[in-house]
Amino acid sequence: MKGIILAGGAGTRLYPMTKVISKQLQPIYDKPMIYYPLSTLMLAKIRDILIITTRDDQPLFKKQLGTGEEFGLNLSYAIQEEPKGLAQAFTIGEEFIQNEPCSMILGDNIFYGNDFVKMLQEARSVAEEGLAVNFGKKVKDPKRFGIMELDDEQNILSVEEKPEYPKSDFAITGLYFYPSDIVEKAKLVRPSKRGELEITSINEMYLQEKRLKACLLGGGFSWYDAGTNKSFIDANNFIYNRQEERGEIIACPEQIALDNGWLSNEQVFEQGLLMKNNAYGKYLMDCAKKKIIKK
Ligand code: TTP
Repeated sequence: MKGIILAGGAGTRLYPMTKVISKQLQPIYDKPMIYYPLSTLMLAKIRDILIITTRDDQPLFKKQLGTGEEFGLNLSYAIQEEPKGLAQAFTIGEEFIQNEPCSMILGDNIFYGNDFVKMLQEARSVAEEGLAVNFGKKVKDPKRFGIMELDDEQNILSVEEKPEYPKSDFAITGLYFYPSDIVEKAKLVRPSKRGELEITSINEMYLQEKRLKACLLGGGFSWYDAGTNKSFIDANNFIYNRQEERGEIIACPEQIALDNGWLSNEQVFEQGLLMKNNAYGKYLMDCAKKKIIKK
């Protein structure tokens, strides 16, 4: 299973903040936004990850994340010349995907809640069996989102973009798992009326073949698409409050790599040591020590 983080886009709704620095490199409390989608893919036990950015932004993403070695990952990078739509991620990623199942997450999507790892693993298995999975979340204002209509077995019956009369309250989030024919499907997508290669077109193809499932995030689950000033600050406040309350760091890739067995205690401790004068570094050293004690 491969993973893609789509972190291009213009970020115009956050101007002037995003005039120079990509939205996905801006901080959500104590770490860059891209750490959150990266952690989500890592929780799904995905190690080969492609990061798609604009041409201008790519050097900064490489500076931030490097080869992925410090997270126990293999990171690759690709450029999206223009924000032509989400479906383009899979044609840009064709060589990287190599006919494997592939998950895709938007670079500004932040997920946090109970049973997430279990859900990710289920979605992964479903995609490996040949079905597509969209993550859905109940929202108060369904007219503002892409909405999925569902049957009792979490089959998706229809998908609609910002419907006047929504058929459900479940919004389609920016997290998708697709089977190994995803690139084939993405190549068939034609530009929509607004000139974009829409992910909805891909979903409609799976829908027609009755191969589109939902994975629903519960009421207590938190999902932020940090693309507006309000959702950006809401996401910052949420992470700050949660971390303070629980004394843990959310979306810490080194910790996930340690739990997944991709990094050793010694490696995580060493990385903590390099940042020992801040809370993140101390946390890494603590995680490494706890793991040694558990042994
Ligand atoms: P959007 O929020 O739809 O677009 P944007 O980030 O360019 O922001 P704005 O609307 O304020 O101009 O994109 C959602 C996520 O998907 C975001 O992380 C950027 C990414 N994206 C791409 O990388 N390429 C694309 O072609 C599109 C449409 C989005």
